[in-house]
Amino acid sequence: MAPPRKLHIKSYGCQMNVYDAQRMVDVLTPEGFVETASVDDADLVILNTCHIREKASEKVYSELGRLRLARDEAAQSGRRMQIAVAGCVAQAEGEEIVRRAPVVDVVVGPQSYHHLPQLLARADAQGRALETEFPVEDKFGFLPQPRPEMIRARGVSAFVTVQEGCDKFCTFCVVPYTRGAEVSRPVAAIITDVERLAANGVREITLIGQNVNAYHGEGADGRVWTLGRLLQRLAAVPGIARLRYSTSHPNDVDDDLIAAHRDLPELMPFVHLPVQSGSDRILAAMNRKHSAADYRRVIDRFRAVQPQIAFSSDFIVGFPGETDTDFAATLALVTQIGYAGAYSFKYSPRPGTPAAEMPEMVPAAVMDERLERLQQLIDRQQSAFNKAAIGQTVDVLFERAGRKPGQIVGRTAYLQPAHVFPGPGLEPDALVGQILPVRIDSLERYSLLGELAATPPQHARPLAATGA
Ligand code: 5AD
Ligand code: SF4
Repeated sequence: MAPPRKLHIKSYGCQMNVYDAQRMVDVLTPEGFVETASVDDADLVILNTCHIREKASEKVYSELGRLRLARDEAAQSGRRMQIAVAGCVAQAEGEEIVRRAPVVDVVVGPQSYHHLPQLLARADAQGRALETEFPVEDKFGFLPQPRPEMIRARGVSAFVTVQEGCDKFCTFCVVPYTRGAEVSRPVAAIITDVERLAANGVREITLIGQNVNAYHGEGADGRVWTLGRLLQRLAAVPGIARLRYSTSHPNDVDDDLIAAHRDLPELMPFVHLPVQSGSDRILAAMNRKHSAADYRRVIDRFRAVQPQIAFSSDFIVGFPGETDTDFAATLALVTQIGYAGAYSFKYSPRPGTPAAEMPEMVPAAVMDERLERLQQLIDRQQSAFNKAAIGQTVDVLFERAGRKPGQIVGRTAYLQPAHVFPGPGLEPDALVGQILPVRIDSLERYSLLGELAATPPQHARPLAATGA
């Protein structure tokens, strides 16, 4: 038998890329690849790239510069290293990548990575292989299911792609071009994936999609199912204790989704709902097709059915033409809503998007200053939200042993990391996958520290009497 070939994947950007990287491993495992944590001993290195902002995009080329050296070193010891660029930069730049970085053997877009084995073989035979088409077939139909031991190694929380692409065309955003039009996976395929994950110990599923709440997949009844209906069905899968979804657009929040938050204890009361700006003028220029008041009304609909709900968001500062008054409206919206956390970015012009042609660029120094002020406000809100947990008893899904001996780390409903020492007689590993109440005592930066507020159930393995 040939020795296994070593595969190193480096992923940038969003959750979808994390998911895609795992699926690439699933495709390459039957081909005899095993993962390695280091670039230096890899036979194949895949950069799974992000094109959302210029900085993310440019990282690829500096990484390819470093890989050229690693490849030369491997060649000196008689070993061949193949290099592939996948993800959204691959999709957007295609052949330009091999022109700028001839070291690249394979360029593969996000809709074609199920063809990786054939592309690697073609690169072997012809020196190079590129595929950035949106193929007619659905890649999910061709992706092998992850092996049980692989699922277990990936932990108790898993992503499942239910929807890809975006039809919204916000004027700043490359996603509709790199990920294509909205496509939803059929309900039955998603249920199969979730059942397989649950059967191998997964307790928490995050449904992901570029515009996940635009989900409109075909149900077993031949009807179109909404995300709310899908969540309702998945909540019934044995073993699944927590459900989440990301990322949503305010205009696609429908009554089914609100009802899911009302009815499903499994659906976590934490929603990522990007608004981008609080100024109606800027929202119009961004082609968001909603106003700040529309967004507030959507937030109110969630809050009316689920008082525990908390929100996070994305913001862009310095969109072309953004004035001090526009920016003040963003700060005002953040103050009104009160977030548990949020991401904020400086506007970055992306080639081919309408906003990149808009002339009124905001000066860099003004962008810096606005970003700083917005981030300070969001940080204060996040700290207040985390502080409010002190003294409370909250459910924590334990994910892994902590860095300190005897410590275990999990997450609350709001994805706050929680660190606990379960005490003598309880092996942290035995608690992984369990959801237990934790009394929160203190806060260390963004992490909650606390103690178990209940004795773990019987199936938690006690330590052997002899100790460690
Ligand atoms: N410049 C800055 N931020 C952007 N985002 C998307 N496109 C751009 C851009 N051109 C941000 C948005 C989006 C998040 C994923 O990235 O806030 O919600
Ligand atoms: Fe990009 Fe999101 Fe707008 Fe779609 S909805 S274009 S993914 S920012």
